[in-house]
Amino acid sequence: LGSLISKISPSLVRCVSTAGGSTGSSKKVAVLGAGGGIGQPLSLLLKLSPLISDLSLYDIQHTKGVGADLSHIETRTKVRAYVGKNELPDALKGMDLVVIPAGVPRKPGMTRDDLFNTNATIVADLVSACAKNCPRAIIAIIANPVNSTVVIASEIMKENNVYDEKKVIGVTTLDVVRAATFVAEAKGLDPTKVNVPVIGGHSGNTIIPLLSQTSPPVSFSQQELDSLTTRIQNAGTEVVEAKAGAGSATLSMAHAGARFSFAVLEALSGKEGVVECGYIASRETEFSYFATPLLFGKLIEKAKKELNANIQSGLTFAKQYL
Ligand code: NAI
Repeated sequence: LGSLISKISPSLVRCVSTAGGSTGSSKKVAVLGAGGGIGQPLSLLLKLSPLISDLSLYDIQHTKGVGADLSHIETRTKVRAYVGKNELPDALKGMDLVVIPAGVPRKPGMTRDDLFNTNATIVADLVSACAKNCPRAIIAIIANPVNSTVVIASEIMKENNVYDEKKVIGVTTLDVVRAATFVAEAKGLDPTKVNVPVIGGHSGNTIIPLLSQTSPPVSFSQQELDSLTTRIQNAGTEVVEAKAGAGSATLSMAHAGARFSFAVLEALSGKEGVVECGYIASRETEFSYFATPLLFGKLIEKAKKELNANIQSGLTFAKQYL
């Protein structure tokens, strides 16, 4: 683990282009699975955001009620509710960001991998519809197992020739949220001021909190490092057991999903230097997908052109020289 972290830490922050969405601070967001335990509070938090002009709620059940309910809140975000497969294309058209919390959650004794069979098909069907109806949208996947559902989503976008590896992202923000909370508790700090990058993946041992990179800097004893790491890795199970069969984290996940969405939307609206962790196609390690801090921004689009031109000049020169 140590060698892996030291290997990737110099290039920890990766850049994610959010260019190509609708203009200004009026963004269009769809929540797929909006009738569920995460979907409902997540939609509520999104409805409160001045960054969002249109909020599209899709599920195979409950969205009409959730939509009617949310539509009475006095913010300018327009809520539209869609239910059932036939309404999915309309739910997706014109979206800048699609957040996917659709899928079954864990029950006590289950791992995230136990959800694979059900959730793989749900995510595959939903992402196929995204490829056809909003191919340029950023797709944020909450449905577990994130380590695998993001791969499925990416393959489906590739198959439809609309894949942009910087736009299909697994939401691991809850791990970051939990790490900050637990570190703040242990050290008597204000949790809103604590940041702990969490890399790797989103299940058990693949959740790697970089406690040594906590900001503000704090020192930990070996025992603290071990117990905090274990708690962060098992925090999801803590909630599953406490809920005793009634599901997994929904409210803290809704907060984390909203925090991730706002980071993407702020960057889309022109804010610079927005960083959030996420699970994404990657070349940082031996793994083809890996969660790292991501720098969201439009500027990268300009940088990309310039950098590509610079690289090309170098290559052309070297070719002639050799
Ligand atoms: P839930 O069962 O309360 O809600 C899921 C919703 O998805 C339901 O409303 C259901 O009707 C809907 N759904 C099912 N099939 C669908 C389809 N084909 N199209 C659209 N909607 C569909 O579950 P909950 O608690 O909201 O969890 C959702 C997912 O999020 C689970 O897979 C869970 O493991 C995952 N999760 C991920 C976390 C993360 O950190 N990334 C944290 C917590 C949960």
